[in-house]
Amino acid sequence: MRFTVLTLFPEMIYGAANHSIFKRGLEQGHLHLDCINIRNFSNNKHNQVDDYPYGGGFGMVMKAQPIYDAYQHALAKQNTQKKPRLIYLTPAGKPLTQAIANELASEEALFLLCGHYEGVDERVIEEIVTDEISIGDYVLTGGELAALVLMDCVARLVPGVLGKEGSFADESFMSGLLEYPQYTRPAEVFGRSVPDVLLSGDHAAIEKWRNEQSLQRTQSRRPDLL
Ligand code: 6GU
Repeated sequence: MRFTVLTLFPEMIYGAANHSIFKRGLEQGHLHLDCINIRNFSNNKHNQVDDYPYGGGFGMVMKAQPIYDAYQHALAKQNTQKKPRLIYLTPAGKPLTQAIANELASEEALFLLCGHYEGVDERVIEEIVTDEISIGDYVLTGGELAALVLMDCVARLVPGVLGKEGSFADESFMSGLLEYPQYTRPAEVFGRSVPDVLLSGDHAAIEKWRNEQSLQRTQSRRPDLL
């Protein structure tokens, strides 16, 4: 999977991507990450990438031209003719779900556009964006953290990125239920013991207990999922 991020803050993206499983995915060649700094495509002598909104109002709007030129540059760097989907991260987008992540994981390449200020000129969105995605019903200061969330969520679905195939199969949302509680050594900590069934060696009983825990958690925390 080749991710290309159009952003004003490439260091935020590279910094967060350079750890743990995502980093290993990059090193092993399952993932590829390239950031394009939109500011490098300003054709303004002050390297300005934003301007006042037509119609007035609070804040600044990102200009169409630097984003469009950054996108053309990213396309030219691709070694195929095929245009990747370009996802604009915005609180006004469709909410990210596991189903959307699964679908995106089947792409060979994804472009992500991170907005800042009060938004992006609608005309460049109409011109180049194929998908608008939000990561939830709250407001962030920019699209970078949202792009990282989306990439992390898609990256772990790319074959080879998680060590053991299928190690994600029983996690929350894959089954449609929340994950059951986990325990590791020691057998007692803070005066709290590991549930007896997990020490029983009875695999059928363990599976039954875990399913019950998943169901109870989902009922109490996320009844909307049932
Ligand atoms: Cl994608 N961007 C911003 N700025 N805020 C958000 C978001 C995205 N998703 C939820 N909140």
